[in-house]
Amino acid sequence: MSNDAWASLADLFVDEAYVSVKGYVRTYVLHQQLLEHLPAPPASLLDVGGGAGHQSFPLAQAGYTVTLLDPSQAMLEKAEQRLRKLPADVQRRVTLLQAQGENAFEAVNGERFSGVLCHGVLGYLDRPDRLVSQLCQCADTGGVVSIMTANANAMAVRPALEQRWEDALASFDARTEIGVLGVPGRADTVEALSELLRGFGVEARAWYGVWLFVDWLEFSGVELDPKDVQKAAKVARVELEASRRDPYRQLSRVFHLLGHRE
Ligand SMILES: C[S@@+](CC[C@H](N)C(=O)[O-])C[C@H]1O[C@@H](n2cnc3c(N)ncnc32)[C@H](O)[C@@H]1O
Repeated sequence: MSNDAWASLADLFVDEAYVSVKGYVRTYVLHQQLLEHLPAPPASLLDVGGGAGHQSFPLAQAGYTVTLLDPSQAMLEKAEQRLRKLPADVQRRVTLLQAQGENAFEAVNGERFSGVLCHGVLGYLDRPDRLVSQLCQCADTGGVVSIMTANANAMAVRPALEQRWEDALASFDARTEIGVLGVPGRADTVEALSELLRGFGVEARAWYGVWLFVDWLEFSGVELDPKDVQKAAKVARVELEASRRDPYRQLSRVFHLLGHRE
């Protein structure tokens, strides 16, 4: 994607997708999974394609030192606006950096991080290898690489729930679709991505689903009220449990894969 292909998507992604219960579940579930694998704060984290910081700012609030790298000026402006609302000590722990993920190692001047995150980015690239190699290169020895991307094994879920039956039938072996933000997206499998990571010296350790029931409810036309925070918290706990178990995690349209650099 060109630098500001995300300019037109920034409002949709930040101001709409993330204010839904589904957005809350995504952040909550990934955060819990990350805390199980990351070293303790104040370890340094690099969030590649970090967007408006929805995943890495809560980690900065938890005491981590965060570098958020993103090529999009529009997304970085959103990040800046959100960052300014956080306490001064959290702001001091966050650095925003404009660069392509494919140049990440050079952009961070060869620094290596205890954790490298890349969530919701790979699917927008024609192929994952160049970016994945940079993620691995930026991880310190023993460091964690965390990738969230679309699950190629669950491609029929969305068209089926939207009752687009011909699309559903055609999608079982598909690897691309027009995603919920209206732009083309590409999906991966846990196995293929684990193999790719291994080639760059990172051993996959665990994988999870991310959202399931909220996703299905949305495509079935059910709206959950994000203002009902008690209910949202209950939903999030159910989703976290589902994300850890078969067969639920296998059906999540996105997966979260974590590996350690050998
Ligand atoms: C769906 S958003 C995800 C943002 C964030 N990771 C999150 O989980 O909230 C995708 C982000 O990927 C960024 N992006 C697109 N192409 C990229 C590339 N080649 N390298 C790094 N980031 C990229 C976009 O600018 C956008 O901020």
